[in-house]
Amino acid sequence: MGPEPKQHPAEVPPGYPREFERELRLSDGRAIWLRPLVPDDSEQLAHAIRTADPETVYRRFLGAAPRVTPALLEHLCTVDYRKRFALVAADAATGVGVGIARYEAVTADSAEVAVAVDPAWRRAGLATALVEMLAEAALGRGITSFSASYLAENRPVRALLGLAGDGKQAIHAGLAEAAVALDRASVTAAVQRLTRDGAPGAAQGPAAPGP
Ligand SMILES: CC(C)(COP(=O)(O)OP(=O)(O)OC[C@H]1O[C@@H](n2cnc3c(N)ncnc32)[C@H](O)[C@@H]1OP(=O)(O)O)[C@@H](O)C(=O)NCCC(=O)NCCS
Repeated sequence: MGPEPKQHPAEVPPGYPREFERELRLSDGRAIWLRPLVPDDSEQLAHAIRTADPETVYRRFLGAAPRVTPALLEHLCTVDYRKRFALVAADAATGVGVGIARYEAVTADSAEVAVAVDPAWRRAGLATALVEMLAEAALGRGITSFSASYLAENRPVRALLGLAGDGKQAIHAGLAEAAVALDRASVTAAVQRLTRDGAPGAAQGPAAPGP
């Protein structure tokens, strides 16, 4: 999925939350490196959007792919790690990016969440891990609910949102809008499960200093 992401970015913006650099083992045994997004990821993100299959693009953007302009890339890749937060996932064996998840605050205490995982890396819990860790970040930054817009028949998204808390879904013309109140206890338990050393399907974090 394009140029290699840097596991430990050489340059990080102010406020870069290094504690979200983690290693994760998926339920199928493959290892993932997870870290906050940095501006240097823009080339990799541009490649991912341009080469994504039409169904992934349609589901992620609810329509055609956006035009990949420098302004869009700067907007997507410059986050403040508070009101706008994103995590990227890479194949730990090759460094190639395989998933991304973000939230964007819409009010002081609620944020819209979006996630995409490379088709070859699906059904192994990667989106689940990304959303739980985003929820952990959100709760630490005063955000207490997540919302999402998605195709009503997008079953994984419904399952993903159900993870973080109890919520409501409204469907209109095939599009769904859902909002969930983040449940601190269940998010904490999920992240602890993901970061429990050595367990299959576990993450280890925070990560050790890199090379
Ligand atoms: C949605 C998406 C991110 C899920 O990624 P993933 O890594 O496969 O998700 P997970 O493995 O963590 O699975 C999450 C849940 O969805 C379920 N699920 C995953 N794929 C599914 C499918 N094709 N059909 C039914 N359920 C599915 C899983 O069983 C799991 O539910 P569970 O926790 O009850 O077991 C991925 O399919 C994707 O990138 N789709 C295109 C973009 C998109 O739709 N983004 C969401 C809109 S913002």
